[in-house]
Amino acid sequence: MSSVSFEGAQQILRPPRDGLEHLRGDELARQTLEPGGLSVRDGLIIALEPDARAALTVDVGGCALVPGFIDCHTHLPFAGWRAGEYEQKLRGEPYEEIARGGGGIATSARAMRQTGDAQILEQAGGLAAEMLAAGTTTFECKSGYGLSRDGELRALRLARELGPHVEQTTISTALLAHATPEGYSADGWMEVVQEMMPEVIESGGVSALDIFVESIAFENCHLELMGELAAGTGLALRCHVEQFSSHHSVPVALHAGARSVDHLSMIDPDDIPALAGARCAAVLLPAAEFLGAEHRAPGRELLDAGAIVVLATDANPGTAPVVSMPMVMGLGARLYGLQAREVLGASTLNAAWTLGLSHDRGSIEVGKRADLVLLDGPAEMISYRLGHNPVAIAFVAGEPVYVRDQAAAARLARR
Ligand code: NIG
Ligand code: FE
Repeated sequence: MSSVSFEGAQQILRPPRDGLEHLRGDELARQTLEPGGLSVRDGLIIALEPDARAALTVDVGGCALVPGFIDCHTHLPFAGWRAGEYEQKLRGEPYEEIARGGGGIATSARAMRQTGDAQILEQAGGLAAEMLAAGTTTFECKSGYGLSRDGELRALRLARELGPHVEQTTISTALLAHATPEGYSADGWMEVVQEMMPEVIESGGVSALDIFVESIAFENCHLELMGELAAGTGLALRCHVEQFSSHHSVPVALHAGARSVDHLSMIDPDDIPALAGARCAAVLLPAAEFLGAEHRAPGRELLDAGAIVVLATDANPGTAPVVSMPMVMGLGARLYGLQAREVLGASTLNAAWTLGLSHDRGSIEVGKRADLVLLDGPAEMISYRLGHNPVAIAFVAGEPVYVRDQAAAARLARR
């Protein structure tokens, strides 16, 4: 379909002005939710008003039109789940203890080894369909459950193979330092990581490197080294930091030129100002915090200080078996005290920037991709009706790739 016209929206989410690559501080709250329409041609937004000649008209009456959600931190593809481990956590066993006892990431690595490609792709494809139904039109994949040279390269290949099977755009991150593989010291494994960089680059499609800095994983010195590898290969640096304990990893990440620091549940307050002033996203993962009874990242404080605040699912079989961005927005709203416009900007334009995509998506602007979500009510309902899926229709490049029900279908009228 080459042209679509959206008419009579009660709210259209727009940035405070066009051309912003991300939103800091009160720029998030200054996004507007005004009534209106827009038109789309050949997959792009071409005007901020309806077009009577379009091939498809969408009656948006009473509803909100927002950019497709961008989930910039997931651990897809993985094999199976770890529900038993959640039971252990509910009995009060901490994540670190489960990991030290051979569970956690190592369990998912074993499952990955024992599962064939087709089955892993089938699970990831099913999750991508769930994500689409919850409005996610772009998402990140990570390796990290390979835990061997071949295993990590396989995970990256599977992430690449997932792309053509799903409606969304996918972006791959090589989480090459997630847990120390058996038989290696952290230093020894980092040598392997260094050696495998040419293969990671040659395999194609990887846009960032990632590392988990934690008492049960890697240290700041390894983060520095990962930063050097990223700089040397032109990949972005991302990192899991300050999740269960504080290691002052944020200044190290900033010095290494990180594009994002993710988790931050235990960030030291002294490290907030530098992050707030940096070109580095503060990626908050409220589902992991909520389900793991982790500490709460200072989301409000980071936002008010001017950081590029982002929300993401962290979808993984351990800390966050959650794929719904509306759920994450609702949790983020409550845990950090964020308003509707703030959670939306954190899940769209700022998430796009984290993935290096904000030039072509993440906000409703003329010339950007028409990745759009039609909600079944006003935007404030997303956080308020926690657990309700507010997505009526999801559009990818102007195509209605997910239509929830008859009522949503009735909103689409072909000429
Ligand atoms: O982002 N923290 C490290 N990695 C994941 C958890 C991975 C797992 O438990 O399988 C996270 O929370
Ligand atoms: Fe993660």
